[in-house]
Amino acid sequence: MLDINNIRNDFPALHQLVYKKPLVYLDNAATTQKPKVVIDTLLEYYNKQNSNIHRGVHYLSQQATVAYEEARICVQKFINAAYSHEIIFTRGATESINLVASSFGKKFLKKGDEIIISGMEHHSNIVPWQLACEEKQAFLKIIPFNENGELIIEDLEKLITEKTKLVAITHISNALGTINPVKKIIEIAHKHNIPVLLDGAQAVPHLKIDVQELDCDFYCFSGHKMYAPMGVGVLYGKEKMLEELPPYQGGGEMIKNVTFEKTTYNELPFKFEAGTPNVGDGLALAAAIKYLEDLGMENIKLHETELLKYATKKLSEIKNFRMIGTAKEKAAVISFLVGNIHPSDMGIILDKLGIAVRTGHHCTQPIMDFYKIPGTVRASFALYNTFEEVDVLVEGVKKAKEMLS
Ligand code: ALA
Repeated sequence: MLDINNIRNDFPALHQLVYKKPLVYLDNAATTQKPKVVIDTLLEYYNKQNSNIHRGVHYLSQQATVAYEEARICVQKFINAAYSHEIIFTRGATESINLVASSFGKKFLKKGDEIIISGMEHHSNIVPWQLACEEKQAFLKIIPFNENGELIIEDLEKLITEKTKLVAITHISNALGTINPVKKIIEIAHKHNIPVLLDGAQAVPHLKIDVQELDCDFYCFSGHKMYAPMGVGVLYGKEKMLEELPPYQGGGEMIKNVTFEKTTYNELPFKFEAGTPNVGDGLALAAAIKYLEDLGMENIKLHETELLKYATKKLSEIKNFRMIGTAKEKAAVISFLVGNIHPSDMGIILDKLGIAVRTGHHCTQPIMDFYKIPGTVRASFALYNTFEEVDVLVEGVKKAKEMLS
């Protein structure tokens, strides 16, 4: 079992008062707080190691280059990729998906082709595909979900045609908390030789990810949702897939040779990393990974599952409480409404009580349209949240309900 009180001491931001109340931070699906070791890694980089990498002959540049490439290997091992050159550093999951949509679209999409996504995607796994489809006059097809917020994967077989070029699915829904049966989805798609991209932004902080075991073709995630800084993320791609895709952006680093007549491109992973990389945040991402590995992803999952069970039980006792997203397989995310209370009114009162939640459509407007609601209040938990914090949330919701009813 994790010693949560001890763990909380690692996170400076958790120990503050907001409106004179102890902060109860339950907006972890939007971004997690950072442990001191991550912040210190960033400071250490800018205090001592800062220099441009891969091209300097001097000491600092060489040190920073080694450290950055070690960070890449750290990510590789964390998700069990076969090679470190299958790890592309990006700005985050959004950029990772845009990279694939743009490069894959350019190379493989033709007029009349189809991309399959699901009805519960974050806008960042919808809009890049719409842009790619618009350019090539291709189409999006949508796997529906049921009232509980579970994908109806029997429909996937029916949606697949010989024009289907790729399936792109979220591993865990940020708005519903559903853990999707991605292994099954990948098996179905691969039976038809269709590659699969997984948006793992919400999964990586909660589950042990093994990309070889999943056999996904692409896996995308953000550092800032897994205790690392904002502005760094990862695209994993199978070597064979990445080799086939054209570069996403042009610039320094991604070239082998440039003349005005013809430019040849660098090998993986550099072909997809144009310009000066975000070295400091890459090192801090590796520090976050080491932190998670020390705690153990299994232990984190156990604790968060207990929090989810407890919060679900306690909140469900409130009259007129309605949970949006009741899938059997769920991560520690609770989206809810109470009676007719508008989610943002509830959010404002909770905020004044020191409780940070997110309200609104959570960048998943199609989900809100499905339930015919304007949005939800979302409490999303992390490894450092406590059962006492759940109690504070429950009391806060009751108080807000009293004030707003
Ligand atoms: N995608 C993030 C969220 O769900 C911002 O809150």
